[in-house]
Amino acid sequence: MSNIIQILLEEHRNIDKLLLVLERELDVFDRSEEPDYEIFQAVIQYFQDYPENCHHPKEDMVFEKLKARDAAAADRVGDAEADHRVETLRLRRLVEAVEDILAGREFLRQTFHDVVHEFIAHQRQHMDKEERLLFPAAIKGLRPEDWADIDARLNDRKDPLFNGVIETKFQALQRTILRWEQETETSRVKPSRVQI
Ligand SMILES: [Fe+2]
Repeated sequence: MSNIIQILLEEHRNIDKLLLVLERELDVFDRSEEPDYEIFQAVIQYFQDYPENCHHPKEDMVFEKLKARDAAAADRVGDAEADHRVETLRLRRLVEAVEDILAGREFLRQTFHDVVHEFIAHQRQHMDKEERLLFPAAIKGLRPEDWADIDARLNDRKDPLFNGVIETKFQALQRTILRWEQETETSRVKPSRVQI
């Protein structure tokens, strides 16, 4: 498999972790407790920073190449670039919702829930679609020179949260992800202990 597809899949797994963090904070909000809005902000900052600037552009390049090599397969994928523009809009709506809450502006709880929930649901749907349609079609249709060309145009910026040195602004978020993973691990271990 192309190295680029492997990177994209890995980035999807990382995005999944952040969506789980958001989902967890949304559960807190839905119980009428106070979620950690700093975590919301850090997740938003990450999405604005890395997926918007590095992950989606890589996929857009893959899609461009696919259109040139196999137009029918690209048609089946739909308009990947338009999907990314919709993702950007949903992210902006999430930014505004969190800002409204933090500024104490009047905001229906249900509206906040819907904005966060829709952001999470659509991110998942979008990644699922790419993994089912775009990536397999690209693996099949792109030629080695296409991958080499994408590779040459990639900016080699490292992921600021999951790769290498964690940027200071994301350290609290990283601790949250680790804590959450440990807790999930612990809760997964529990049933087997019962069986023993
Ligand atoms: Fe993606």
